[in-house]
Amino acid sequence: MSQQSMIDVKNVTAAYGALTALNDVSLNVQKGEIFGLLGPNGAGKTTLLACVEGLHKPKQGEALVGGISVQANPAATKRQLGIQLQKTALLDDLTVAELVEVYAALYEVYLTSQEIDALLARFDLVEKRNTLARRLSGGQQQRLALAVAIANDPQIVLLDEPTSALDPHARRAMWDIVRQLHNEGRTIVLTTHAMEEAEALCGRVAIIDCGRIVACDAPSALIARLKLNPMLKATVELPLEQVRALPEVSAARYTGEHLEVETARPEATLTALHELAARLDRSIRDVALRQPNLEDVFLKLTGRELAEQN
Ligand SMILES: Nc1ncnc2c1ncn2[C@@H]1O[C@H](COP(=O)(O)OP(=O)(O)O)[C@@H](O)[C@H]1O
Ligand SMILES: [Mg+2]
Repeated sequence: MSQQSMIDVKNVTAAYGALTALNDVSLNVQKGEIFGLLGPNGAGKTTLLACVEGLHKPKQGEALVGGISVQANPAATKRQLGIQLQKTALLDDLTVAELVEVYAALYEVYLTSQEIDALLARFDLVEKRNTLARRLSGGQQQRLALAVAIANDPQIVLLDEPTSALDPHARRAMWDIVRQLHNEGRTIVLTTHAMEEAEALCGRVAIIDCGRIVACDAPSALIARLKLNPMLKATVELPLEQVRALPEVSAARYTGEHLEVETARPEATLTALHELAARLDRSIRDVALRQPNLEDVFLKLTGRELAEQN
């Protein structure tokens, strides 16, 4: 398959006054990818998208969209982009249908009312066409933001935390919509701080932390490259230092009341855990084994947890 570069970020450094938000970031997104920017709050994800969108001017480096420099030709690059901002201030006193019409017109795309309905139908919003945007539920507003983002039929769709603050059902619905946009041949870049979202949707992921990309690859490749062992999970109260000292244990931590132990030999470690628990008169419940995930990758690369900072 021939490769076509849709987004190139070249050595971008971005700052807000004295604060460096991005530090020499480079990445490349190919046509047809769902590409994820995964990192905790404050990592620089929104700033990176803003540089691609032409909404933030990098201090150094440049961003290209479809081979065209965003800074040199902002109008031409914006026309290729559909943008769902992290907080879309959907104008308060417009109805759903009016909003779609207005946003498309900003891109000089003038939709007929049939076209507006067809667009709303894809996002399950037809019945809401005459409802004020501010009266929609959270999930409906997120879907409307996405409908608005693709009103100009863009090749590339940039989604900033598309599912944050959504309940699990609305989140799944949004995942389906993202997959649908991808199936139509669009290139998708999304940000998230949820590793399961990145794993579920993204072919490749850039892990971003403190303004730097610390790794970039397919989720499975990231996990494989770090040679992470399976994780043994159990609900038990044990001193971490004693768990870490057990044979075969390469790491141990608590997520809430659940102990997670990385081990090359789960059976041996489980036996050792039972012995330790018996000695300390503690009971072990809910034992499970899980394969390593992007959360473990982030922890390994940064020494910190992705989830607990959000
Ligand atoms: N408009 C702004 N003014 C000052 N600092 C900002 C602004 N926007 C973001 N920042 C800071 O830049 C860093 C990166 O922020 P951001 O790109 O929003 O991260 P993320 O989207 O990953 O949460 C953070 O330290 C944040 O506080
Ligand atoms: Mg953000």
